Amino acid sequence: MSAPDHAQLDRDHVWHPFTQQQAWVEEEQLTIERAEGCHLIDAEGRRYLDGVSSLWCTVHGHRHAGIDAALTAQIEKVAHSTMLGLTHPGATELAARLVEIAPSGLSRVFYSESGSTAVEIALKMAFQFQQQRGGQHARRTSFVHLRESYHGDTIGSVSVGGIDLFHSAYRPLLFEAHAAEPGDAADLERVLSAHEEEVAAVIVEPLVQGAAGMLLHPPGYLRAVRDLCDRFGVLLICDEVATGFGRAGTMFACEQEGVEPDLLCLAKGLTGGYLPLAATLATERIYEGFLGAYEEWRTFFHGHTYTGNPLACAAALANLDAFEQERTIERLQPKVALLEELLAEVGAMPEVAEVRQRGFMVGIDLGEHDPALRLGHRVTLEARERGAIVRPLGDVMVLMPPLSISEVELRKLVEIVGGSIRAACASAPQQLAQAA
Ligand SMILES: Cc1ncc(COP(=O)(O)O)c(C=O)c1O
Repeated sequence: MSAPDHAQLDRDHVWHPFTQQQAWVEEEQLTIERAEGCHLIDAEGRRYLDGVSSLWCTVHGHRHAGIDAALTAQIEKVAHSTMLGLTHPGATELAARLVEIAPSGLSRVFYSESGSTAVEIALKMAFQFQQQRGGQHARRTSFVHLRESYHGDTIGSVSVGGIDLFHSAYRPLLFEAHAAEPGDAADLERVLSAHEEEVAAVIVEPLVQGAAGMLLHPPGYLRAVRDLCDRFGVLLICDEVATGFGRAGTMFACEQEGVEPDLLCLAKGLTGGYLPLAATLATERIYEGFLGAYEEWRTFFHGHTYTGNPLACAAALANLDAFEQERTIERLQPKVALLEELLAEVGAMPEVAEVRQRGFMVGIDLGEHDPALRLGHRVTLEARERGAIVRPLGDVMVLMPPLSISEVELRKLVEIVGGSIRAACASAPQQLAQAA
């Protein structure tokens, strides 16, 4: 039997996320078969630096010995057992460990599988909490979010999303949310004043709005958001799906401004990038708002088939072990400084409009270009030729390497990206000139 032609099978049957399939099927496809450390390896054995941590989630690299071993050990016990009516050691231990490392005040952990569902759950919890408080609080049925925010693709998370390109087509399906200007505490105050008694919660991506193209908030903004939420009696949901687990330079971004949210959404790096697992952390106050006699129906009626999957929990526990044993956050600091130094050269390139960095989250903004040019995508293809996988957000090149990347690999990655930007812009000079 001949080996399957994966590229052809893909063209014939697979529908890719966030992908215009008409263009995709015309391009040469890259099939990743294996990975090791910070490298992805294709079917021909070519190696590529994983410049975006396989969509922002790989933490300690691929094929990490500790996480691999934890998964092997777990699979010999049980791969899946439901959390509806049962519990298991991985879920209980992980919940306790998350509570220990999360901003204080968060004491309860609700599992799901993706960033979108972690957000969906936080929104439903906030809404139901306010309903169950009763009286005037029952009028708190809407949310405040930031413009350009991204919290996932399910209908609830899209309702609090602010990226028109992704979200506007679904407006008729969405619930009410009020938008505030990112990084502008006075604007949030204005929005909260205007809708004072109808807001259940404010939701933010702390410090960095990732999918917006690594939009950075000014120092003190997150703190101001927390204070405003307290002043207006509104819950604060921090979506650390992208920033959590070291990405923004600390374990959680909230730590940098001493902020304790009422609800915290985690996913991506939770399993070190191995398996889909998410967690929504809540305060005791919120949890207690759901307690009551069975027939009072204050239950949180939500849960997925794979909620708290034991294999995923085992990977997450091993991920947290690696953070401790390898002193990941401490060893990240000089790499963050090196990255800043390396990016200064990229920022000085005439092809680059701006570089934005917070920790290991980087956006290299190529400025405004004709979308038909697909400049960011061209850079991606050039980088692939040179041995790195990156993925843009429009014409913003994202760099989010695994936290375990070595200094040598980091230098190589930035060099490849700089060279790829230069090459992509040079190979499309006429179109670029027209667009300017
Ligand atoms: C801040 C934030 N929230 C939520 C999500 C959605 O996560 P997922 O793709 O796992 O549903 C993302 C994904 O990039 C994100 O960056």
